[in-house]
Amino acid sequence: MKQQPIGIFDSGYGGLTVLQKIKAKLPQYDYLYLGDNARSPYGNRSFETVYAYTLECVKWFFDQGCPLVILACNTASAKALRSIQQNDLHKMDGSKRVLGVLRPTTEIIGQFTKTGHVGILATTGTVKSDSYPIEIQKFYPGIKVFQEACPLWVPLIENNEYNNPGADYFIQKNISDLIKQSGDIDTILLACTHYPLLLEKIKKLIPAGITVLSQGEIVAKSLLGYLEKHRDLEEKCSKNGLSSFFTTDSAEDFDNHAAIFYGKSVKSTHISL
Ligand code: DGL
Repeated sequence: MKQQPIGIFDSGYGGLTVLQKIKAKLPQYDYLYLGDNARSPYGNRSFETVYAYTLECVKWFFDQGCPLVILACNTASAKALRSIQQNDLHKMDGSKRVLGVLRPTTEIIGQFTKTGHVGILATTGTVKSDSYPIEIQKFYPGIKVFQEACPLWVPLIENNEYNNPGADYFIQKNISDLIKQSGDIDTILLACTHYPLLLEKIKKLIPAGITVLSQGEIVAKSLLGYLEKHRDLEEKCSKNGLSSFFTTDSAEDFDNHAAIFYGKSVKSTHISL
């Protein structure tokens, strides 16, 4: 049996924040990262478009041989994952798996909140899908979920404008609008894989006593558990500790921006879908 890398997907660079944490926990595996930068951001696009784009990218990973693909993108996880798992996977290759970032986060969020009031900061697409309130209710029926869409955060981050004073206005505004919804929110989830870049800024802007969670480590821990439980799939994953990077846009641009998200520079290859 030929072993192959685990696929990590995002609309752009955000999934690199997840890959970084996955690699720290599971350094032995090989990873293949694809950023659909040419069509990013996904956050303000329709369900149909995000589904079509994500499916196309998942097919590409399968063509490369990946036995497992992680949608390291909340928007794709919220809008496309279920349809892919239910309608497409068995037609493509029923032995392969596609996982997202929503479930690992929603199944443990109850461990962090004492008040039972949780805030979600995410893209418009993720918020509109209502995936977080729906999924959290399944695990923690008593938790109240408050959401705020932050439509400008991803464009500000992708354009490397997030540290400029102009960006602070929008970051502050969205946080205040979330907190206004309930004075009892004690846990805020950064439900977009781009947002860890704003973590320090956000921590300074929120009232003391609120825990801010980002997803990278949570997803990495969950993947470890998944691979321990699914040995047949684990055996199909190659283990040379190598990562390769692909983008649907300019490889030069990707290489210039990736380090901000990944913590070190990368050398990517352009692909056309
Ligand atoms: N990083 C992605 C997420 O987690 C999406 C960003 C976008 O393309 O809008 O939602």
